[in-house]
Amino acid sequence: MCGIVGVLGKHEAAPILVEALKRLEYRGYDSAGIATVNGGKLGRRRAVGKLVNLSDLLVHDPLPGKSGIGHTRWATHGAPSVSNAHPHQAGPVAVVHNGIVENYRELRAELAENGIDFQTETDTETVALMTEFYLKSGLSPVEAAFKTIDRLQGAFALAFLFDGRDDLIVAARKGSPLAIGHGDGEMFVGSDAIALAPLTDRITYLEEGDRAVVTRTSVEIRNEAGEIANREIRKIQLDQTRTDKGGHKHFMAKEIAEQPVVVAEAIRSYLPTGSDRVVLPDTDLDFSKLDRLTMVACGTAFYACLTAKYWFEQLARMPVEVDIASEFRYREPPITDRTLALFVSQSGETADTLAALRYCEGKADKIVSVVNVPESSIARESDLALPIHAGVEIGVASTKAFTCQLSVLLMLALKAAADRGTLDDDALADHAAALRGLPTLLNAALDQEEAIRKSAQRLSEARDVLFLGRGLMYPLALEGALKLKEISYIHAEGYASGELKHGPIALIDKHMPVVVMAPRDAVFDKTVSNMQEVMARKGKVILVSDDDGIADAKDGVWSTIRMPHAHASVAPILYSVPAQLLAYHTAVAKGTDVDQPRNLAKSVTVE
Ligand code: AGP
Repeated sequence: MCGIVGVLGKHEAAPILVEALKRLEYRGYDSAGIATVNGGKLGRRRAVGKLVNLSDLLVHDPLPGKSGIGHTRWATHGAPSVSNAHPHQAGPVAVVHNGIVENYRELRAELAENGIDFQTETDTETVALMTEFYLKSGLSPVEAAFKTIDRLQGAFALAFLFDGRDDLIVAARKGSPLAIGHGDGEMFVGSDAIALAPLTDRITYLEEGDRAVVTRTSVEIRNEAGEIANREIRKIQLDQTRTDKGGHKHFMAKEIAEQPVVVAEAIRSYLPTGSDRVVLPDTDLDFSKLDRLTMVACGTAFYACLTAKYWFEQLARMPVEVDIASEFRYREPPITDRTLALFVSQSGETADTLAALRYCEGKADKIVSVVNVPESSIARESDLALPIHAGVEIGVASTKAFTCQLSVLLMLALKAAADRGTLDDDALADHAAALRGLPTLLNAALDQEEAIRKSAQRLSEARDVLFLGRGLMYPLALEGALKLKEISYIHAEGYASGELKHGPIALIDKHMPVVVMAPRDAVFDKTVSNMQEVMARKGKVILVSDDDGIADAKDGVWSTIRMPHAHASVAPILYSVPAQLLAYHTAVAKGTDVDQPRNLAKSVTVE
């Protein structure tokens, strides 16, 4: 939920730290700050709000020094404010932190008994004060930091900087990701490799429990037991263009527009040209040997799993359970060695999903993940990680990652159908052709942007909006509602269209727009009946359908959004585009911060 960065460099640290924080701002943007060591003395600059406020501050009040740490915050403990902004400093030590120290109250009480006062409401200040306490007891900076780290419970990625030590950063990782970047006579620390991409492509990922003593020319990593741990230095290929919006007004607009290309890449990665059979990277995954699939994710990724449930059950006749990650392990589901546990996560760092994955370790036959960051924690802790090839996604509202997740999950369902013999060669070929035709359909959907923008203008005046879908389009109704609410701040709910009459129809009046996602498929007629129930009560229907559906049902609707005809199996992927563009243009009309909506962060690395 926060981004941390550190540099032991040859040049002034402040601009390097700020640039790296820009690449981490998607992780949180309530406040930001840096600390440096200059002439042996620690100095700090912090600002509330977006990173630009810190940059402005540094113009008027520069902070020299070639060693430093930085932080961009998504508030967990304590409101967004300068005093709660990181780095937190206690005497000769400054620290930045991503995560939650769950036992900070106990530690605060212990420090208070030693007469130590607190200036903030944050758990992180406790880390700084505890380290100072150990320094005063005579421990060295490294010993004091390590002893503090041993006391902490919860999830944290930490970087410590010390007075008088301009060639030392102590870093630690437990539950939140942290990477070391190897430069030429310089060293860097960051929440992810993306932050360090302009600085180096040689990256070491700390493992759970690792702590590192970093100087400009060395990195000594020890595991939780205190033993020296040798961690691989990987060469990372990273898309350097992520700070470029490609001429679009927002990253979200760019990422929506990229979908035909990245979905095509995802499909090519698992459906080799000329073959109708899905091929997974070297694995012995055989669905015929499995009884059940359990899928776990959060947010948009969860809706991708809900969609995939229909595919696995209809195409592969495989029983599927889908869980919201934050509920999964508290349900204590029985996981057997004939269960496949599948985790879907764009960032691969979502704490709830990672915790659910760990619940399945040692229980499930195999742990498979569908991720957009192959080096992420979830990917590295899976038996098999399947990349979605969406490219870096910056907009907090997930778009291209969603359609790439769906594409990979549909191909996984087809692999399951082939393994279990539930689809014959013709049916497999039919689905393969539908997938290969999808990028063209996505382009056709994007061509409807102006019509969608006009519908969005109407939505932007609404206080509440309903999204309806049936069958494969029901999870998409949930996703459409999430997209709208998270970037336009309009309350929106997704419902199974058949469920409306069991209560929610009471909400319908002339003020209530209802978006109906309904290709002319096997359940279209029933959905039209639900739609007419809405219009009979003066509800305002926006019908998203194909030519046939619109011809059949357009009478009385508020507006229509026309989609190309599509194979039933790929319709949810295609109809994601109008859902995304409706949300996007509504948010633009409302003037909200599309790429960095209030209260949100791109990667939720706390539970
Ligand atoms: C999606 O638009 C949201 N930003 C959010 O729900 C997101 O899908 C969720 O936090 C899961 O993230 P992940 O895919 O990185 O695990």
